[in-house]
Amino acid sequence: MDLKVIGVLSVILVVALSTLAEGKTLPSKCQCKLAPRERRNCGFPGISAAECRKAGCCFNASVPGVPWCFAPKAKKVRKVCPNDPHGRINCGYPGITAKECERKGCCFRAHPAGVPWCFYHRVVEEAC
Ligand SMILES: *[C@@H]1O[C@H](CO)[C@@H](O)[C@H](O)[C@H]1NC(C)=O
Repeated sequence: MDLKVIGVLSVILVVALSTLAEGKTLPSKCQCKLAPRERRNCGFPGISAAECRKAGCCFNASVPGVPWCFAPKAKKVRKVCPNDPHGRINCGYPGITAKECERKGCCFRAHPAGVPWCFYHRVVEEAC
């Protein structure tokens, strides 16, 4: 292989690897705080800690007789109405009423002037 081919191949490899890394969200520590009897097995018997984490699961080998590699808790999310008026994303139209806005499932605040009064929620992750 000449150098050009090697260069192109390594670029492809780097891109592929970074895509892989981005696609998998590793569970946070608190998502892995699960009572031993609530653990759902996520790996195969004898899976290593590294392999388990690579699969996006939690590993804790401190309790014998329960799965050591287990599925993380789902992230809790909550909808909030953002406080910053200038960060609002319009969900309605000028003159929309609170009721109409509510029916669309959006936030309504009739102040200040010059920004949307009916605007979308933001989804925030809750600490677990
Ligand atoms: C492993 O699990 C046990 C039992 O739930 C817990 O007390 C311990 O803190 C865990 N260890 C880690 C590193 O999360």
